[in-house]
Amino acid sequence: MTDVSRTETRPIRASEDVVQARQMARAWAVEAGFTLVDQTKIVTAASELARNTLVYGGGGTMRLEALSAPGRRGLRLVFEDKGPGIPDIERALTDGFTTGSGLGLGLSGAKRLSSEFDIWSRVGEGTRVSITRWR
Ligand SMILES: Nc1ncnc2c1ncn2[C@@H]1O[C@H](COP(=O)(O)OP(=O)(O)OP(=O)(O)O)[C@@H](O)[C@H]1O
Ligand SMILES: [Mg+2]
Repeated sequence: MTDVSRTETRPIRASEDVVQARQMARAWAVEAGFTLVDQTKIVTAASELARNTLVYGGGGTMRLEALSAPGRRGLRLVFEDKGPGIPDIERALTDGFTTGSGLGLGLSGAKRLSSEFDIWSRVGEGTRVSITRWR
């Protein structure tokens, strides 16, 4: 049984919002009792996903969820946009694949840094990426 004990949603419309998304991810990770190493993993993943939401999704939202389950606590971050979507998700998750000017390491990196990774995307509808980390 997983409980969502607290939730908050923030817009990601400009690069300042990406900075704020990082700060919020850090604050919530600290609050949940994550180690400094885990905090950094969460912040790094949040930063990559927030930037994708802005750059490729044309903006969207980040939802934070503080999770509690018997004997453990977690943090879930959900990034959503109504942008163009990803035609080939497997390809997008391949290290080095980019349609922009990045290194193509953001999505795959965020996946590696998470305990659970979930991605939904449909061309013409948008993209939702959810990462969860348990402590
Ligand atoms: N929210 C999104 N909407 C549409 N396409 C996306 C979205 N997020 C990622 N993509 C697609 O997936 C590709 C890979 O994303 P990824 O974050 O791994 O690399 P990148 O953003 O291109 O470079 P990097 O993150 O290393 O700077 C992107 O180039 C883009 O084509
Ligand atoms: Mg990226």
